[in-house]
Amino acid sequence: MATFRIKRFNPEKQPEPYFEEFNLDIADGATLLDCMNEIKWTLDGSLTYRMSCRSAICGSCAVKANGHALLACQRQGEHLLDNDDTITLEPLGNMKPIKDLVVDFTPFWDKINKVKPYLEPKDEAPAKERHQSQEEFRIIDDASTCIMCGACYSDCNTLEVDDNFLGPAALAKAQRFVGDSRDSKTLQRVQDLSEPGGIWDCTHCGECVERCPKPARPFDRIKEIMTVALENGVHNNNGARHALSFTNSVKRSGNLNENRIPVESMGFFNIPGLLSLIPIGLRMLLKGKVPPVIHHSIDEVDDVKRIFKELDQ
Ligand code: SF4
Ligand code: SF4
Ligand code: FES
Repeated sequence: MATFRIKRFNPEKQPEPYFEEFNLDIADGATLLDCMNEIKWTLDGSLTYRMSCRSAICGSCAVKANGHALLACQRQGEHLLDNDDTITLEPLGNMKPIKDLVVDFTPFWDKINKVKPYLEPKDEAPAKERHQSQEEFRIIDDASTCIMCGACYSDCNTLEVDDNFLGPAALAKAQRFVGDSRDSKTLQRVQDLSEPGGIWDCTHCGECVERCPKPARPFDRIKEIMTVALENGVHNNNGARHALSFTNSVKRSGNLNENRIPVESMGFFNIPGLLSLIPIGLRMLLKGKVPPVIHHSIDEVDDVKRIFKELDQ
């Protein structure tokens, strides 16, 4: 017998959420969604969640199971049991719960809309369709598989502390159009995506890739946008300067010059930004954490330079 510990919330009856336990025998091969349906249909008809396709296509059944977002119809219940034969279910994170496992997707959709998720073509519509080669389509193929389930958005660490961050799903959608050979706004798109709240605010934790049930893999798409932004000379922001400073430091000496990187990332002429580094520098000094003033190259620096040269060719 498995225990389902489900976070319940009905603001019309009780302002605070609470956990309720249900016991259920998990049938062989039953998905988590099958189990939730069984609970709803036989134990408590008021249990509320979204579902539709039951085939990992519509994206509506995403919930948190044992702390991580997933599609309830894509995973077998038995595989999710913890050591106490329990599965803990909660609504997706980073969005406001409405009732039980249903959350308000408004911020998610607002951010998708913000990245202009539609083609802005180069020329007038042709008589027939606009063609792409297989190679051109491959660039946007993975991002096109997103089913808007919100699992990545739920578990994104940056969104937990910064509502302004566009988030992994919107950025994956943005790559779908940044990389589209038929689009005319690539430069404008990467400039917009380099603003605060965009690509450079991602912490590279990779959580969205772990949670994504499709090949969309948002962090991989974010890296692709970063590459396009840098290739298009969109360097006038802290994130791009940081990436370039980091790369140049390794290229020059084989390791990181930790005194130089913060200054280069902030920008030499960004006086308020540079002044903002002073308190951190002083705290580091007091704790004895200031890196050596004279930066030394590693012994194998020639090998590092050779690798960069090969990459540049
Ligand atoms: S890699 Fe970036 S977008 Fe993905 S979860 Fe981490 S912070 Fe969020
Ligand atoms: S990128 Fe993946 S996890 Fe995020 S909404 Fe799309 S399918 Fe879901
Ligand atoms: S019910 Fe459609 S993805 Fe799960």
